[in-house]
Amino acid sequence: MSEIAFSIDGLKIKANEGDTILSVALKHGIYIPHLCHHFDLPPFGGCRLCMIEIEGRGLTISCKTPAEEGLKVITENPEINKIRRIAAELIIADHYTDCLSCVRNTNCRLQDIATHSGIKEEDLQHLKRRTVRNLPMDESSPYFYRDPNKCVLCGNCVRECGEIQNVGALDFAYRGAEIQVMPAFGKPMPETECVGCGQCIQVCPTAAITIKYQTDAVWAALKDPNKRVIVQTAPAVRVALAEEFGGKPGTIITGKMVAALRRLGFDQIYDTTFSADLTVMEETTEFLHRLEKGENIPLFTSCCPAWVNYVEYFHPDLLNQLSTCRSPQQMMGALLKKFYAKQQGLSPQDIFVVSVMPCTAKKSEAQRPEFRTQGIADVDAVISTPELVQMIREKIGFAFNILEDDCYDSPFGFGSGAGVGFGSSGGVSAAVIRTVLYKLSGGKPPLDYAFTPVEGFPNTTEAVLSVGDKTIRIAMVRTLGAANKLIEALRAGEVCYHLVEVMACPAGCISGGGQPLINNIQARQERVQALQGVDQQQRVRTVQDNPFIDEIYRQWLEKPGSHVAHHDLHTTYTPRRTKN
Ligand code: FES
Repeated sequence: MSEIAFSIDGLKIKANEGDTILSVALKHGIYIPHLCHHFDLPPFGGCRLCMIEIEGRGLTISCKTPAEEGLKVITENPEINKIRRIAAELIIADHYTDCLSCVRNTNCRLQDIATHSGIKEEDLQHLKRRTVRNLPMDESSPYFYRDPNKCVLCGNCVRECGEIQNVGALDFAYRGAEIQVMPAFGKPMPETECVGCGQCIQVCPTAAITIKYQTDAVWAALKDPNKRVIVQTAPAVRVALAEEFGGKPGTIITGKMVAALRRLGFDQIYDTTFSADLTVMEETTEFLHRLEKGENIPLFTSCCPAWVNYVEYFHPDLLNQLSTCRSPQQMMGALLKKFYAKQQGLSPQDIFVVSVMPCTAKKSEAQRPEFRTQGIADVDAVISTPELVQMIREKIGFAFNILEDDCYDSPFGFGSGAGVGFGSSGGVSAAVIRTVLYKLSGGKPPLDYAFTPVEGFPNTTEAVLSVGDKTIRIAMVRTLGAANKLIEALRAGEVCYHLVEVMACPAGCISGGGQPLINNIQARQERVQALQGVDQQQRVRTVQDNPFIDEIYRQWLEKPGSHVAHHDLHTTYTPRRTKN
């Protein structure tokens, strides 16, 4: 990729050939208003707010215009400002302005644009406000609310769902002034093939699609004197939470997070990293068994519930290739309701298990009928990172930043570096590889492996490992569209893998639909690097070295892949294509 030089507002800038002017400007901290641009999506050019002028060429939109050698770009002048202001006024005139009580207050692209253009409520009076449409809020999804009154018709959710995730649960309907984004035929969301990845929330520039909060149920449990309320936190939460309290992306605040959870009133605080270790033990055994028998290979990982939903909807013939291991969230739920409850002399209904997850799909995973003990859900409530932020703000406020670090409770608060890695894409397969090679080689194999991009397959990397007379080929895929492409190639015999890890979100759980919004690629990379750093600094980096995992097999599960382990920690899947 060759480098080019050009200028924005007189500032000399270097960029890679093919970069758009908008992406370069944003990377260099030069603000150009934009609504329909998102760094994960191909350029669309719908809102016209990113207008700029190129000296000698005239006005153009910056999100679709590539930077070229020697260009002189102007981002503001009276003509540009006038065009932008008209476009912005028309959009805002159609939009609710209840900013103070909106969940996206201070984190809304439209609000930024109004501020940048100096637009005030009284400026909009000359435009006939159309908010009187008062369209009903769609509350049908288990994952999110859809408020069409806050939709700016940028189409980001439609493109994300269709082009990136290959699902297509949302689309434009009607024409002219009646145009809306909605599920096909206006069906309720559960009647669509929505897999719950929540990436539509991540790419929405306003509050048209927002996470469905479950915090009321958690507060109620915390106030119930008859409940023991236990919380587990997923690895990816600890590297994103700080951003909501003024910290930089990738700042790790595990200790403060645990302290805050203690202040909120949780009786026990456990780390999902522990149950991720348990998942690795079971999945490694399952993988080696399948490899030996040559059955149901490649084994597809099943930790990502949006991916599991996707296979159930779109590729039901591959269900027998999904790992039968429960996800770490559900393994922790089973551990607490089936083992811990008995050990403590409690019944499953005496315990209320809360998960803090970076993921919206985890909300429905917890409600699956397979994950119940004596008729009671193993995980009672799932809250996302922003929901935890909301709870902390309600009870602790910004004093969060001065909390003394605290530690997870023992024994389910101790996980290996491999388990922490589950928080970003590649983590599950890396953890399984560590244990597979340990078991096959019997020695101390290296802990880190290089994954290289697979040519012709976006968002896909691979590693080829040799151990004894075996060669093991592993693929790691991010986004469901990329997974679909790989599945087609596997079916056609164009590629061959033994293990395929799929994460629905672009960099795995750290960029899940239940995470604080990420506004640039750099922030996403910082979260990934932070998790890798935690793994590298961990005293115990492999699952087989976690003494508490040994203990849990000794006391409860007997050995990996045992009958008890299969009964309590594995699951089944169901084809569920909806009727069109
Ligand atoms: Fe360029 Fe919308 S951001 S047209």
